[in-house]
Amino acid sequence: MKLIEGKSIAETVYGECLESFEELKAAGFLPGLAVVLVGEDPASRAYVGSKEKKCQELGMHSVKIELPAETKQEDLHQVILDLNADETIHGILVQLPLPNHLDEDAVILRIDPAKDVDGLHPVNLGKLAMDDPTGFAPCTPSGCQRMLVESGIETSGANVVIVGRSLLVGKSLALLMMGKGEGGNATVTIAHSRTKDLKAVTREADILVAAIGIPHFIGPDHVKEGAVVVDVGINRIADPTAPRGSRLVGDVDFDAVKDKCEAITPVPGGVGRMTIAMLMANTIRACRLKEGL
Ligand code: GUN
Repeated sequence: MKLIEGKSIAETVYGECLESFEELKAAGFLPGLAVVLVGEDPASRAYVGSKEKKCQELGMHSVKIELPAETKQEDLHQVILDLNADETIHGILVQLPLPNHLDEDAVILRIDPAKDVDGLHPVNLGKLAMDDPTGFAPCTPSGCQRMLVESGIETSGANVVIVGRSLLVGKSLALLMMGKGEGGNATVTIAHSRTKDLKAVTREADILVAAIGIPHFIGPDHVKEGAVVVDVGINRIADPTAPRGSRLVGDVDFDAVKDKCEAITPVPGGVGRMTIAMLMANTIRACRLKEGL
């Protein structure tokens, strides 16, 4: 079994980012990322904190806008419109999920597609569906694809089964992997909570992607001998033996599954590491596209 480690692959992406970043700086441009956080969700806070830290490490211009949980829809729209108009900002990310009273789609629709480094605006999702490389693909699916490519795993003609149909991961990853680019040309199946005989479907997978958000959902009965398993889940579960009383686990029961796999991504230290790296890469590309470099 080969462990596909996010850390080293993310470092490769950061290396590319740094090179591109230095080129931009030499030409007089500084890429800028704005992250908008509404409310107090601790997991969202932690993600936003790591994004900010990474921006600082790279020397990128970074703005964090923190708004109270009771923010009104119109006020959030105005924040987005101001960021669209801000010449120092090339990428805008609104941390999801938003508090229940807010309409996420209406917010995302207001982000300038050229600054939508999260790849969630319909223009960018449309470009993804059209195999148009001028758009931005969502960061977690791009990170999964990059991990497979960097690990030398053949996707062309492979049976890929993705469990989970969210726009942020499952649906977008399906588009990427059935696309004609590098890490694409796969035969993709999406399975979800209404899929009949899920284990029979997932056992057909050469590459099995778990993106359901249920701790340890995928066990050995779901996995074909010699499959590659990509675990997108990041779930916090109680563990009295852990220093914080809890720990992070994936959607895959790693210990039970690992010996059946040709390769597998761990949690933590797997896909999660890639999401922020791809966000930085998208932001630098947004800057290049805007400045015509
Ligand atoms: N929440 C969890 N993952 C993501 C992501 O990739 N983008 C945004 N905007 N919110 C998230």
